[in-house]
Amino acid sequence: MKFKTMKQTLSVALAERTYPIHIGAGLLDQTALLLAHLKHKRVAIVSNTTVAPLYLERVAQPLREAGVDVVEIILPDGEQYKNSEILNTIYDALIQARCERTTTLIALGGGVIGDLTGYAAATYLRGVPFIQIPTTLLSQVDSSVGGKTGINHPQGKNMIGAFYQPQLVLIDTETLKTLPQRELSAGIAEVIKYGLIRDADFFDWLEINMEKLMALDETTVSGAVYRSCQNKAEVVAADEREAGERALLNLGHTFGHAIENAMGYGVWLHGEAVAAGTLMAADLSLRMGWLKLEDVQRIKAIFHAAELKQQPPALGVDQYLDLMGLDKKVQDGKIRLVLQQAIGESVMTSDYNVDALRETLTL
Ligand code: NAD
Ligand code: GLY
Repeated sequence: MKFKTMKQTLSVALAERTYPIHIGAGLLDQTALLLAHLKHKRVAIVSNTTVAPLYLERVAQPLREAGVDVVEIILPDGEQYKNSEILNTIYDALIQARCERTTTLIALGGGVIGDLTGYAAATYLRGVPFIQIPTTLLSQVDSSVGGKTGINHPQGKNMIGAFYQPQLVLIDTETLKTLPQRELSAGIAEVIKYGLIRDADFFDWLEINMEKLMALDETTVSGAVYRSCQNKAEVVAADEREAGERALLNLGHTFGHAIENAMGYGVWLHGEAVAAGTLMAADLSLRMGWLKLEDVQRIKAIFHAAELKQQPPALGVDQYLDLMGLDKKVQDGKIRLVLQQAIGESVMTSDYNVDALRETLTL
């Protein structure tokens, strides 16, 4: 039986590379939305050992019935596999199946699958079409939109990659029903991020609706996904290659990437590390006199309501600074950070007090 669905559509406005984001419950069954973006009737669906048993046939079978040849590529599950070795196994499978320049790669999974598949699509035969079907909250509100693709390097998160936009982002919010609670919380960290960096009204709305969001109330989930994607689409349309405003989407990430790397990829979830990093950014903003104590308390309270870890690991100042020095925003050797001036207002700056930063790193 098909679900009754309400579809909402946004657009990422990038001239000739403009693409839609469809959001709704049950959209996995709307195969016509996929078919509309296939220039040729051949696709390679990349997924993992957790997501494939849940959703792959639901996508693949109707495509086959519509005459599409479907290659399936199933990867091991985990952040620790977002690396060059696993990327190579995607190339191996594509070559083995004689996939051509007209074969569309479909990423079916969370941000790890999306980033890997997107980078494979950017590089295989110097670029093939690609579609995102994100199945975690984090990937639905952030990683599937905007064309950042890539892999980790043992020395640093997301150090190798490309900007490469998908043709379509297809978001079925019902897939979140199978997501573990810890992963849901991790995704909410990136939802809160939009409120903090540029959308104070959304932050207020999240404070009121967090319980319903955590309970996966359908209207609340689709509202949060829509507003997050709207924020992301606006930022990406204005600054696709992160020359300016897009860097604000990295709130908490310079600290967070250091945590992910130091703890071992996959030990802290990306969203968990971003949440702890966002609190470190708030702490430094407070020390700089930019953010009020009551705002820091609101930020702590909302992460608490989303059941997110708050206490950063005690890596020591030197390890933090060493790892943060690998961040892609480093310029002329100086770590640039996204900090807060208020809830809904953020700035990227290297103009902070280094002693205050050292104090934040010993939180
Ligand atoms: P993930 O891809 O590891 O998925 C989390 C877990 O949920 C995995 O075990 C996955 O198999 C499982 N899963 C996925 N969908 C499921 C479902 N519907 N039901 C049950 N289980 C499901 O992690 P993530 O949080 O989605 O993404 C994190 C990654 O995204 C990181 O590598 C991060 O660097 C990257 N990222 C990229 C961007 C970007 O702009 N490209 C932005 C933010 C994060
Ligand atoms: N997740 C950060 C960005 O897409 O720019």
